[in-house]
Amino acid sequence: MTEQASHTPRVFSGVQPTGNLHLGNYLGAIRKFVTLQHEMASMFCIVDLHAITVWQDPKALKAQTGEIAAAYLAAGIDPERAIIFHQSAVPQHAELAWIFQCVARMGWLNRMTQFKDKAGKDKERASVGLFTYPTLMAADILAYKATHVPVGEDQKQHLELARDIAGKFNLDFGAEDFFPLPEPLIRGAGARVMSLRDGTAKMSKSDPSDNSRITLTDDADAIAKKIKKAKSDPEVLPSEEAGLEGRPEAANLVGIYAALSQKSMDDVLFEFGGQGFGAFKPALAELAVEKLAPISAEMRRLMDDPAHIDRVLKDGARRAGAIAEGVLADTKKIVGFLGR
Ligand code: TYM
Repeated sequence: MTEQASHTPRVFSGVQPTGNLHLGNYLGAIRKFVTLQHEMASMFCIVDLHAITVWQDPKALKAQTGEIAAAYLAAGIDPERAIIFHQSAVPQHAELAWIFQCVARMGWLNRMTQFKDKAGKDKERASVGLFTYPTLMAADILAYKATHVPVGEDQKQHLELARDIAGKFNLDFGAEDFFPLPEPLIRGAGARVMSLRDGTAKMSKSDPSDNSRITLTDDADAIAKKIKKAKSDPEVLPSEEAGLEGRPEAANLVGIYAALSQKSMDDVLFEFGGQGFGAFKPALAELAVEKLAPISAEMRRLMDDPAHIDRVLKDGARRAGAIAEGVLADTKKIVGFLGR
């Protein structure tokens, strides 16, 4: 993209420490982080400031922050190569978010579907932070002038807003090309993993049914049981992707198989076309266990070594802070703030 031309490529992404990581988080985001760290300078954040836009028990928040760090490491992110850190350790995120709250328009935020979903019927009782959430997300990315943002499909609208904020800032302050317009990386299998209980709802941490998601801490038995119980249909599998139309649960299970095995849907259906779920589900369970069990074992090992996690996060925060400090100093000058 031409607007990236003058900016050094940099990847930024984040995960909220709000509960058990699930297969959607892994396939839609974390697994992509592992690949991208070899292609560009990369930063992977644990977004604890975002987490508190809805109530978090302080003790649980602390534990879950360590758990995401463990998941990043267990999945294969190398802390020497990529920067792993927690958001609250770098104050520039909140500082830039404030400036962006003064750039973004109410109308823009009013259109955010995630706010509508999360706030539910009683918008008056939602935190103000939940409403301004996307401005903090833009700040996360732009405090490092990041150019590429790997996320699942559900973050697409927030990423578009981040691009609008970057563009409006550049225009309002006559600072042409100061902030890059970050490019979402959403493509590929796993960008939208659906609930195992309802193929039309996305797999999510907040679904009350534990059987709706496979988590990174599930053991082999739990994974197999959840796949066995997953909603499907009585038909056999088609031999091409087009045949999955109108069969959301079947499409989801085949999609998960494709994403885990890094094959196309058509390749998976070439193998399983004509077979029923009685044959497909055990194959899927076996594949999921094969791919996820080593990660969950490594996560457990790392969570038993909090001193190591602590060192990784402190080092990451120091490296991230050094970058954000420079960007914020320039930003504040552009806005017209007197220096200290
Ligand atoms: P969060 O914590 O909800 O989810 C983390 C990542 O997992 C992806 N994801 C999914 N992908 C596929 N299928 C699913 N069912 C599924 N569920 C979740 C999300 O798209 C995300 O990539 N707002 C972000 C965190 C964030 C962020 C950022 C991301 C804060 N600042 C800056 C990128 C850049 C969020 O709530 O993700």
